[in-house]
Amino acid sequence: MDLDGRTVLIVLAHPEPASFTAGWARASADAARAAGARVIWSDLNAMGFDPVEGPRHYRTPPAPFDPLKAHEAAVASGTVPTDAQAEADKIAAADLIVFHFPIWWFGPPAILKGWLDRCLIHGALHDVDHRFDTGRLRGKRALFCVTTGANAVECGPGGKEGDVHLLLWPLAYTLRYCGMAVHEPVLIHGVHGYFEGAEEAALEVRLSAALEDHARLIREIDRHPLIPFNADTDFDETGRLRPDAPSHSPFIRRP
Ligand SMILES: Cc1cc2nc3c(=O)[nH]c(=O)nc-3n(C[C@H](O)[C@H](O)[C@H](O)COP(=O)(O)O)c2cc1C
Repeated sequence: MDLDGRTVLIVLAHPEPASFTAGWARASADAARAAGARVIWSDLNAMGFDPVEGPRHYRTPPAPFDPLKAHEAAVASGTVPTDAQAEADKIAAADLIVFHFPIWWFGPPAILKGWLDRCLIHGALHDVDHRFDTGRLRGKRALFCVTTGANAVECGPGGKEGDVHLLLWPLAYTLRYCGMAVHEPVLIHGVHGYFEGAEEAALEVRLSAALEDHARLIREIDRHPLIPFNADTDFDETGRLRPDAPSHSPFIRRP
């Protein structure tokens, strides 16, 4: 995907504008702009985005409250909550969505999970007839830029903090469900404020170097590999992976 003339949405989930994660998001935006892209933002904490789905967001919520039916009814009546509609419009406009967030308790911060819960609107951005290979967000790409406090060994295969690629898989699969292609995540490990002296200086050097490399990655995003997912045809009519189909992840392993 040549970014020239494309739209890049930066989704930032971090409460501190001076954090490395937020600075990294600005570096993505600068690199995308330099490559000719139009950049739009969802700085979730700065927006005060409410990530908690519930009936109070809807003009006429179904009772008992069913979030999928609430989405559908709101789409049909043109009463999708304003904040969720604004985000859905950004998603619809974006060719590439770059997510920036730290790992918090082995997953994304809750504000990002809730953004997906509320803004991937059922009946608009996905429905039962449009998911996976027929997803409504086909043609769009996503990239996760993620910091961890733990080091690279701890976050790798066999590491005691769990393989971050696995921790991020449900998030990637959420986007795949909606039809998107998802790049392999970019990970920066060992980011925290508890280093002192020489170690703190070494971290600064490492982080500055990472930001310089990052501009090239964004500019040449096409060269960055995609996470492999199964095609719809890899599953039988019951939804089980066919014996001859590849298993790309322990989340969908051969029975
Ligand atoms: C609530 C919370 C939970 C965290 N859980 C993890 C974790 O599961 N794994 C990990 O490696 N780091 C964890 N951390 C550390 C953060 O990932 C780390 O502080 C962050 O990536 C640093 O980037 P920043 O300076 O941009 O915030 C956690 C931090 C917080 C605040």
